[in-house]
Amino acid sequence: VLVVRNPDDRTVVYAVNPTCSHEGCTVKWETDEKKYDCPCHDAEFSPDGQVMEGPAKKPLATYTAKIEGDSILVKSI
Ligand code: FES
Repeated sequence: VLVVRNPDDRTVVYAVNPTCSHEGCTVKWETDEKKYDCPCHDAEFSPDGQVMEGPAKKPLATYTAKIEGDSILVKSI
């Protein structure tokens, strides 16, 4: 699970499965560009896992996540 804060609202967090929906490489978060990049074929995903640029056609799998006090809670299913 990869957890990032919403760049536009720091009170919101997103939790995604970093496995690219194209062919399964591991995406990485690019803080400056506020997106996930896939190193294999350059797909790009928004902070909430939606496809910004192909070749991926499906979003990243996501999990429900929230900030609670000093903790971040991620629901596994
Ligand atoms: Fe991610 Fe192809 S495996 S773009």
